[in-house]
Amino acid sequence: MFLPARVIVSRKEIDMAVLYNIYFSGKGTTKICAECIGTGLHMEWKSYDWRKQPCETELKIPREDVLLFSMPVYGGFIPKMCAEMAANLKGNHTPAIIAAVYGNRHYDDALLQMKELLTAQGFWVIAAGAFLAEHSIFPQVAAGRPDEKDQEAMAAFASECSCILEEMDMQQYSEIEVPGKAGYDVQAFQGVPFHPSGDDSCNGCMTCVNACPKKAINSEHPRETDSERCISCGACISVCPTGARNYHGDRYQAAGAQFTEKCSAYRSPETYYVNRRCRYV
Ligand SMILES: Cc1cc2nc3c(=O)[nH]c(=O)nc-3n(C[C@H](O)[C@H](O)[C@H](O)COP(=O)(O)O)c2cc1C
Repeated sequence: MFLPARVIVSRKEIDMAVLYNIYFSGKGTTKICAECIGTGLHMEWKSYDWRKQPCETELKIPREDVLLFSMPVYGGFIPKMCAEMAANLKGNHTPAIIAAVYGNRHYDDALLQMKELLTAQGFWVIAAGAFLAEHSIFPQVAAGRPDEKDQEAMAAFASECSCILEEMDMQQYSEIEVPGKAGYDVQAFQGVPFHPSGDDSCNGCMTCVNACPKKAINSEHPRETDSERCISCGACISVCPTGARNYHGDRYQAAGAQFTEKCSAYRSPETYYVNRRCRYV
């Protein structure tokens, strides 16, 4: 692929660069990862939480700055609404770091999808990481992650990214290789059949109504959830002050037991760098 020349990124430029720390986080683990990596990059940063503030207009990120794009994995991809919002990002050979946060099953095509979405928007992806977190639907899987070891892996990833940003001659840039199936079909994932709802301890405070990024909770009946709109991100569960919102039902319990049996083996973070081989940390 032909890539136009870019000035060498010098130490001075990186010192002045701003990190655009963009993420979507329903239950908070992706936010933890984004902040852990962001901290390790030692750059001034601006946060964009796409759950709270959807990106509805164009956001230009200049080539002197850096994008950190962290997303949870839903069905092997990034959430559909985030893939759509990514079309509003505009880079100009802007370096980008991508992080997929997943619940111990697999990240499948998420890193490839993120790389392709951002490359099409004018970014140059220099590093990619797949990091582990508690499964937001079945929290008994990968419970307590990201833990201290994961955070160390993210700090090491950030420090490697800093070296690349400081030293890399972007004129030598060639596309990063990340795992994933070419020609993946994002339509293959149509959501999960489980949606949180409120129980008797719901006091109608509306916190969940305001936190839902898909407006799936009706303010007149806040214990109910519109299953057509709900993406099961779990934001309503995390913000509920009485613990009323959660997944319920026998089907959910049975699926949880099966999933736990299949997906509990320990997985480690994986990182990929431009012009370098995959490293397991
Ligand atoms: C709808 C949905 C689909 C998911 N699909 C996957 C998946 O394909 N693979 C996986 O390992 N984890 C999957 N997860 C788990 C999340 O990727 C994981 O829990 C992530 O940490 C959630 O981030 P958050 O805490 O920022 O919301 C899924 C979660 C949801 C809500």
